[in-house]
Amino acid sequence: MAISRKVYTLDEFTIQQLRNFPHATGELSGLLRDIGLAAKRVNVEVNKAGLADILGEAGMMNVQGEEVKKLDLFANNQFTGALQHGISCAGIASEEWDDFIAFEDEASRQSKYICLFDPLDGSSNIDVNVSVGTIFSVYRRLTAKGAVVEPDDFLQPGIRQVAAGYIVYGSSTILVYATRRGVNGFTLDPSIGEFCLSHPDIKCPAQGKIYSVNHGNFYRFEERVQNFIKKYQCNTAQEGGPYTQRYIGSMVSDIHRNLLKGGIFMYPATTDMPQGKLRLQYECNPFAFIVEVAGGLATNGYKRILDIAPASLHQRSPLFIGSSNMMEEWEIGRQIQQ
Ligand code: AHG
Ligand code: MN
Ligand code: MN
Repeated sequence: MAISRKVYTLDEFTIQQLRNFPHATGELSGLLRDIGLAAKRVNVEVNKAGLADILGEAGMMNVQGEEVKKLDLFANNQFTGALQHGISCAGIASEEWDDFIAFEDEASRQSKYICLFDPLDGSSNIDVNVSVGTIFSVYRRLTAKGAVVEPDDFLQPGIRQVAAGYIVYGSSTILVYATRRGVNGFTLDPSIGEFCLSHPDIKCPAQGKIYSVNHGNFYRFEERVQNFIKKYQCNTAQEGGPYTQRYIGSMVSDIHRNLLKGGIFMYPATTDMPQGKLRLQYECNPFAFIVEVAGGLATNGYKRILDIAPASLHQRSPLFIGSSNMMEEWEIGRQIQQ
C-alpha cells in the first residue's frame, strides 16, 4: 500500500538539503537537531510555566545587569547542554554567560561550528503568557579543527554566519532557520514531538503595513528617528498608509510577524541607551541574516548590521529591520555616509 506522506521533519529536511553538497559532513544538520531538541525541552517548560515553580525571578542579575528569570536559566542550561553533548559544536556564547564557553572534549574540538544564542528572548513576557522565543546564530570557527576555540571565533561580523534561526514558543511553536539557500519554518507537531516543515522558502514581502517600536521611548529617540516614525503616523492612502503599530516586546514574535506579513521593526538608540538595547551578536545579527536571506534589509540607522565588526561579545546596537521597500524609503533603513 502506498503511504502518502508529504510533510518533512526538520531532520529529514536538513539531511535532504545536505545531499546537494557532496562534501558536506552533516555537522550543520547535527547542530540544528541539537537546537531542535533543546527547543522541545524549553517548549515543555514554557507550556507548563504557570504550573511548575518556574515563573518569576531567579534572584540574580546577568552580565548585562538585567534581572534573570528562572526560565532564562532553564533555557540557557538546555541549549548549553544540548550543544555541549552534541558532536557538532566547538563552543558557544550566550546572552546569559559572562564569557564564551569552549568545549574541550575531542569530538567538540573536531567540530567546525560555533553557536551564539539568546536562550530566552522576551523573558519579561513569561509571567503574563505572552510569546517568548530563542534566537541562535552559527559561524564556522576561525581556529583550526582540533584546537580549542578562542575569542576571535566569536567576534566575526554577521555576514559570516552560516546559519541563523529562532524559535517562537507561541500559540504554536515554530522553528525558523536560514542558510544562504533560504529561510524555512517548521511547526512543532506535539502529537509526534517533531518539527515539521510548515513554511517553506519564506520571503519577506517588499512592502508591509506594520511598524513596530516601543513608543514609550519616543522622546528619547534622535530627532531623525522621531521624524521617521511620524511619517508612519500621518501617512495617507496615497502615501502607502495608513500603517498599523504592533509591538509585543519579544523581538522574536515581533519580527516573526513582520517577516511573514511585511513590516518594519526598530529598536533605536535612546538618550539613556546610546547604543540601543539589543545585542548585536545574539539578537541583531541572526535576525539581520534571516531577514536579508528572505529579501529584507537591516541597519543600525547608518550601516548594514551584517557588516559591523563586533568588538566585544555582549555589545549592543540600534536596529532597524524589515521589508525592503519600507527600509529603503527612509535614510535610516539604508546604508549612508556618517
Ligand atoms: P531579552 O528578554 O532577551 O532581554 O530581550 C528582550 C528584548 C527584545 O526581545 C524586545 O524586543 C525588547 O527587549 C523589548 O524592550 P522594551 O521593553 O524596552 O521595549
Ligand atoms: Mn533577547
Ligand atoms: Mn534573553
